[in-house]
Amino acid sequence: MTTPIVEMDGDEMTRILWKMIKDELILPFVDLKSEYYDLGLVKRDETGDKITIEAAEACKKYGVGVKCATITPNLKRMDEYKLHEMWKSPNGTIRSILDGTVFRAPITIPSIKPVVKNWEKPITIARHAYGDVYKSVELRADEPGVAKLVFDGESGKHEEVVIHEFKGAGVLQGMHNLDKSIRSFAHSCFKYAIDTKQDLWFSTKDTISKKYDAQFRIIFEEVYEQNYRSKGGYIWACKNYDGDVMSDMVSTAFGSLAMMTSVLVSPDGNYEYEAAHGTVTRHYYKYLEGEETSTNPMATIFAWSGALRKRGEKDGLKDLMNFGDQLEAACFDTLNSGIVTKDLVNLMEGVDAKAVNSAEFIKTIRTNLEKRLG
Ligand SMILES: NC(=O)c1ccc[n+]([C@@H]2O[C@H](COP(=O)([O-])OP(=O)(O)OC[C@H]3O[C@@H](n4cnc5c(N)ncnc54)[C@H](O)[C@@H]3O)[C@@H](O)[C@H]2O)c1
Repeated sequence: MTTPIVEMDGDEMTRILWKMIKDELILPFVDLKSEYYDLGLVKRDETGDKITIEAAEACKKYGVGVKCATITPNLKRMDEYKLHEMWKSPNGTIRSILDGTVFRAPITIPSIKPVVKNWEKPITIARHAYGDVYKSVELRADEPGVAKLVFDGESGKHEEVVIHEFKGAGVLQGMHNLDKSIRSFAHSCFKYAIDTKQDLWFSTKDTISKKYDAQFRIIFEEVYEQNYRSKGGYIWACKNYDGDVMSDMVSTAFGSLAMMTSVLVSPDGNYEYEAAHGTVTRHYYKYLEGEETSTNPMATIFAWSGALRKRGEKDGLKDLMNFGDQLEAACFDTLNSGIVTKDLVNLMEGVDAKAVNSAEFIKTIRTNLEKRLG
């Protein structure tokens, strides 16, 4: 390797898997150059969350990062980790610094059939990572009255529309988005579609939301006409909330949340790879009690293979790109031979599947990788 990748460690069960993957599948085969950031909650708290910002800045500097799942603190975690503050979601912080779009795609294998039988190739969800309900303000109208949407422009322009004349109590929500962010979203989607040789579809309910949702359609059309009039499974570009929900649904329909990859792509071509799932707290508590767990490391391994392949692509290192491909192929060899983690065992068709624990699963992948690399 000539340039480091940014390595962001995380929390709970995925932190345990992270170390196993590095020890068994990366370090014995790759002369790894990485800049390490510990985004585990303990370290985030210790540094007043500065470490997350530093890691995101490093992703911008080097162009490729790989991240482990991390805890987003809530009240329960405040107590569990004796936190100084309820720190923001690290993913949110990294997304806003990289101004990126999240692409989520299921890892598919022949013996796990999607719920929709004619889906032969993965569907990738592109989720806009800014605004809408995630930056909304809300109000409870607890008596009859008039609710209005008001805009006061800097030039003195004043616009208002009545939202609703309440005869009784109700609820209200105000959302916004920015042309600049929608344009970045469109650019990231087109770049990724070209990169991965897939078609791109954008969908939104603009027949109902004639100004808000329509602005997304207008900008996507504009960006396509001006920059990407070419042809490239497919990528489905969704607004923030739709992307959140649809990516979980697509992953479940293809088999398991544990098989959903995720990559954040910024409009200027920086990449941050991770698994779409969380830190698998339920397994971690079992692990702490000394129990063996069969947590699926596939999406986290694919974060590493994706990051290393991209690093190889950027630096012109064929061997590193090949390693990414071979690591993924060794995972498929393992699954196709029927060695799987517990979440997959009941989904497999046409293969005599056996559930093993995470350590055994990773060791089998290593054996298959060694065979492939000779
Ligand atoms: N990208 C991220 O960093 C990220 C994403 C989501 C949640 N989180 C954090 O993760 C923690 C746990 O959240 P959660 O329980 O809602 O989500 P989760 O994805 O960790 O787990 C939800 C359930 O999905 C299944 N599952 C997920 N990944 C699996 C795997 N690799 N192998 C086997 N089964 C798997 C398990 O049944 C688990 O109980 C929270 O603290 C949350 O803040 C982080």
